[in-house]
Amino acid sequence: MKRITIALSILAVFTTTAWSQMRGDMRGRSSQQIFPQQYSQEQYDKLNELMRESRGGQLYDNWWKTTIDTEKPKKDHPLWKEQSTNKRSGYDTYRCKECHGWDYRGKDGAYGKGSHYTGFKGVHEAAKKMSIKELETVNKGGTNKKHDFTEHISTNDIADLAVFMKKGLIDTSKFVNNEGMPIGGNPRTGSYIFRRNCTHMCHGTVGIGINFGDSEKPEFVGTVAYKNPWEFIHKVRNGQPGTRMPSAIINDWSEKDILDLLSFARTLPKDTSEIGWWRNLWGGMGHHRMMHGDYRPGSGRGFGPSME
Ligand code: HEC
Repeated sequence: MKRITIALSILAVFTTTAWSQMRGDMRGRSSQQIFPQQYSQEQYDKLNELMRESRGGQLYDNWWKTTIDTEKPKKDHPLWKEQSTNKRSGYDTYRCKECHGWDYRGKDGAYGKGSHYTGFKGVHEAAKKMSIKELETVNKGGTNKKHDFTEHISTNDIADLAVFMKKGLIDTSKFVNNEGMPIGGNPRTGSYIFRRNCTHMCHGTVGIGINFGDSEKPEFVGTVAYKNPWEFIHKVRNGQPGTRMPSAIINDWSEKDILDLLSFARTLPKDTSEIGWWRNLWGGMGHHRMMHGDYRPGSGRGFGPSME
């Protein structure tokens, strides 16, 4: 009897250990694959901040597409009358980037000439000098009544924009010169980064998987990288509003990663004349049907609610 009890308890100890070990394994494995690991408060705060930064960057690009609860203004922005060179109208005149540029330098940067010229200043200097609170005040009309966005976006959105301006702006002149040529950058490494992060299910092997333009005037990754490297950098870092595109800010890429990727992306097809041959090869994969904005059900908008 005693012997049986001992044998049973040994068996019990053995099975529970084995079982808990197995569960531990399972937990370890599944938690890594399905759920994020347990974050410490510090890691959580950091991630939250990076998400706000990247969301702020998307708002700067296109706040209507980034939010799900705002209305698109129909008239021109109140400050638009103060310039006459940029002929755009309506919602475009409300996008931060339209007045302040993809390079954050306004009239002193890439929008210092061409159809986007307004003569308005950039936000680069202000971002350096002003505190987050002061940057918020600017978008609440505190410095100029006509620069009040509170009627259009929430105070949380304005707060995220300020976080982006304070923490998320970069000096693009380190990446590209005034002509838009990358300064350095390793296309071979860039090609690897592209293959690992951008091709699968999205842009395709040569970047023609998604057409941001239309069939008449297509625009691909290569088009943007070549014609507007500042926009390319902004979108890679912050993500494309209203889509699943990931953000290099959230994923903690280095500046070198972005420069390498840019130098490679410039070599990809830029227009239809360059894609004929590629389309035969890759077009059959269905990538080219994924036009931006309408490939996700009910989509085109939304990073999700602003962070508290
Ligand atoms: C219609 C054009 C226009 C749009 C759109 C616009 N701004 Fe401005 N912004 C201006 C002008 C003009 C000034 C300078 C106003 C002044 O100080 O009188 C300015 C000033 C600023 C400043 C302060 C710059 C400084 O040096 O004092 C910041 C910061 C700023 N804008 C951020 C933003 C953000 C963020 C957005 C998007 C939500 C935005 N702006 C949208 C035209 C625009």
